[in-house]
Amino acid sequence: MAKEITISVIKADVGGLAGHSAIHPDIPEIASKCLDDAVNNGVLIDAHVAWVGDDLQLIMSHDQGVDSPVVHKLAWDTFQEASKRSAELKLCGVGQDFLSDTFNGNIRGLGPGLAEMHFEERENEAFIVWMADKTSPGAWNFPLYKIFADAFNTIGLVIKPELAQGFRFEVHNIRKRKKILLDTPIDIYNLLALIGASGIYVIKAVYTKTNEIAAVSSTDLLNLERGVHVGKEDPVCIIRAQSQFPAVGEIMEPFAMPHLVEGWERGAHFAPLMPVAQRDAHPSRSDGPPRAVALGFQLANGKLVGPRDLFDDPGYDHAREECNQIANYLRRLGPFEPSRLPMESMQYTTLPQVLDKLEERFEEIK
Ligand code: 13P
Ligand code: MG
Ligand code: MG
Repeated sequence: MAKEITISVIKADVGGLAGHSAIHPDIPEIASKCLDDAVNNGVLIDAHVAWVGDDLQLIMSHDQGVDSPVVHKLAWDTFQEASKRSAELKLCGVGQDFLSDTFNGNIRGLGPGLAEMHFEERENEAFIVWMADKTSPGAWNFPLYKIFADAFNTIGLVIKPELAQGFRFEVHNIRKRKKILLDTPIDIYNLLALIGASGIYVIKAVYTKTNEIAAVSSTDLLNLERGVHVGKEDPVCIIRAQSQFPAVGEIMEPFAMPHLVEGWERGAHFAPLMPVAQRDAHPSRSDGPPRAVALGFQLANGKLVGPRDLFDDPGYDHAREECNQIANYLRRLGPFEPSRLPMESMQYTTLPQVLDKLEERFEEIK
């Protein structure tokens, strides 16, 4: 009998070693212990703890649906446990991802990022979790567009009838908290008109035309809520693969072209997103370049089979080299745009504190 399964990926930065470059080995160990207990107690079916840079990701399968207070509380308590250890070790930025000290029944809006989807497990239920550090939610716009709407990336859109129907994109204006549904291929140009501005318009989810969930991303905004920069909202995304969805290879292909994302060095610069194996997910050069990790799973009655570390592939060597070349060029521009983010985005960094001090020195030009 087909089983209804929820996949929840909930993440937070609970403190970095050294600076914001990596996670301390105690942190995933503590998180694994919390989640293993939850599996043994029947709260979760299965769990996998991952990390990229200084961000900790809890990948959980269960049957409690999205927005489950029990699962959210588990994630919250796990982050609190890990944060206690971070505080003992005086790691960098302990608590930077928490807007509140108290859990109120739902982790949404409290700081951590989350992506959740609920579906009936297929015979072959392959899915991929993307996780990134030193960037922001709009980082997935480019690859999600390529995968679900660009036939030059996804040949299945041309040769497979189920994919040729196109997909439905849910796009959020993350500043104004508004959303819009756009159907591809008919709305491709409208979609691009919005998501090209990936600091504002973010692809929250992708559905088939029969409203099956295909992909969901984290869009939680930390600095907007807090009004001051303490770290980026490093995002995650879950994408289902095969059959009525793009193949794993089609989901991986966009990362062969390192696109530019917000978030490098103090969250204030653009940089190419470098696809890496998890062992290389510790950005140190100018706190970057931003890293993306892709973990592939198969589901077996809710059990997580895997992961396969999908960027651990010489097929991405060229992309990584190209990233380094682009990064070299951008860094040489230093504080000049377009290496530095435009003023609109800089309002969420510490720059306004400097500009405020300069305000009184300005005079009218006669
Ligand atoms: P994180 O968002 O990964 O903590 O990075 C903060 C930062 O500004 C690093 O330069
Ligand atoms: Mg950090
Ligand atoms: Mg981070």
